[in-house]
Amino acid sequence: MALSAQAKKLNVAAAALEHLRDGCVLGVGTGSTVNAMIDLLAPWQTRLRGAVSSSETTTARLRALGIPVFDLNEVPDLGIYIDGADEATLKRELIKGGGAALTREKIIAAAARRFVCIVDDTKLVDTLGRFPLPVEVIPMARELVARQLTALGGRPVWRERIITDNGNQILDVHDLQISEPCALESAINQLAGVVTVGLFAARPADLLIVGTDNGVRTI
Ligand code: A5P
Repeated sequence: MALSAQAKKLNVAAAALEHLRDGCVLGVGTGSTVNAMIDLLAPWQTRLRGAVSSSETTTARLRALGIPVFDLNEVPDLGIYIDGADEATLKRELIKGGGAALTREKIIAAAARRFVCIVDDTKLVDTLGRFPLPVEVIPMARELVARQLTALGGRPVWRERIITDNGNQILDVHDLQISEPCALESAINQLAGVVTVGLFAARPADLLIVGTDNGVRTI
């Protein structure tokens, strides 16, 4: 039986929560799949020590449930981070940033001992790049970075009217076939003015939970 996108989100969200432990601090991502997980967090309100959040939107949702949200600087050891993605491969490499929260997401992924990524099966690809690759840039460097991304073979498009939680802008890079994600992540990271590239390959997910019509598949 074909499941709706929302049913798949709820299934992967429930599967991810099985990895929580009493008293832990939970890193929480951003997006509609994560929102489905937050909606299931009410029974965990007294069992979690608190959360670290990747966006102002997620912070507001967590606080509405009465879950304390800590600054990452107050959390020396973050056990688990749960987040969605825009694209994923079977190697658990990801494109993230469709929700413009990529910088804080990458910081939390780097801090977490375990990164559990939750997606539905429409996001699984053999080669990353069908989803335009988000790049957060310092505003004054936007056109400079765009020219360099073009030289790398992409077609950057400014996501106009979007300002990130960090006060920066986003370029979405179309027409990339990302055959070497770690190399491209490193190359884009080197460009002056780039804050974060939404490739999560040097630090991929540790566990990818995929929602399918037949339930969840864990990779
Ligand atoms: C947020 O910036 C992104 O990295 C999200 O993780 C991504 O856009 C997934 O969002 P959905 O769960 O809404 O597809």
